[in-house]
Amino acid sequence: MKKIICIFLCIILIFSFLGCKKTPTKIKSEITEYTMTKGVNLSALEDRTKPHKFLDKDQTYAEIFEKGFDHVRIPVDFRLYCDENGITKAFYQRLDNIIRMANDNGLLVMLDFHGWYDFNVSSGDDVLFTKIWKDLAEHYKDYPKDRLFFELINEPHTTEGGDLDERNLWNLQNSVIGEIRKIDSLRTIVVAMPEWNGPWTLENYKNYNYDNLIFALHTYAPLDFTHQGQAWAGKGDIKLSLTDEMLQELYQQLESITRFTVLTNNKVILNEFGLTTTGHISDEDVDRYLSYIASYTKKRNIPWTYWAYSGSFGVYDTGFLGIGAGWRQNVLDALMK
Ligand code: BGC
Repeated sequence: MKKIICIFLCIILIFSFLGCKKTPTKIKSEITEYTMTKGVNLSALEDRTKPHKFLDKDQTYAEIFEKGFDHVRIPVDFRLYCDENGITKAFYQRLDNIIRMANDNGLLVMLDFHGWYDFNVSSGDDVLFTKIWKDLAEHYKDYPKDRLFFELINEPHTTEGGDLDERNLWNLQNSVIGEIRKIDSLRTIVVAMPEWNGPWTLENYKNYNYDNLIFALHTYAPLDFTHQGQAWAGKGDIKLSLTDEMLQELYQQLESITRFTVLTNNKVILNEFGLTTTGHISDEDVDRYLSYIASYTKKRNIPWTYWAYSGSFGVYDTGFLGIGAGWRQNVLDALMK
């Protein structure tokens, strides 16, 4: 009798667990058209020191989809995965698999060449940059256009007195777009705005309208608030609470994006924003800051990609060697409001 009661209780437990699971907004097998509304940056391959094993697990993408995201941005410093002939076969195998797993789980992929600005020191670097993009365009030319977008360059440091000033940035992006279009005329390309993808720079670009291009913007306003606790950014000791003035600064940057889309009809994406999520900032402030962006972008139909899945800005805690890994529910809840 005891045995029967036990089995009965187990069945009830299993069913109540299944019942509690959040149902995804869309069933992935029903997806025929991929869109970008809410996404997350899978930061890993732009830096050899970052944890990256999660990228090779199907479950990562299944969960990201299940939590309500529809795309992922994959930052890669391709120079790390090249030999004298270009991107290596082994790296392509890994990347193909990552893109396939993301797509199979209903997620569109934005492939971002991250870290380029660090090596923009001579014209020879432009040659390598163009060669890598031609290589990628060739490799993915038959890949479905609505599942994979190319993002040329991340956060160009156009005001630091290097070779890549604002004019050279556009010369370089135009020339690479031309090269990609010769190989694959229909691929959607994401372009970088000057000054670290600064939304304020959009004020100078109101007379342009482009097909099949998306303008990438980032905001971390105010930097002292979002980057507090980050020693690498020189803000390890800063401790600030969120104020209305800070939200006003953020609002101004978001408004620049809105004005640009209304005036030009160009497509945009806010494909980086975020803040320290490892406990340095109170849960209330994390919630207030992220909810503010989530509700603003929802009202204005601005797609976004949170920085980042893991790490000190992470919406997911990869734990120590995987132990204690899990979603940071407060961050996720604020984003999905
Ligand atoms: C950088 C990251 C940094 C993030 C927030 C990204 O573009 O590559 O290293 O954590 O911005 O500052």
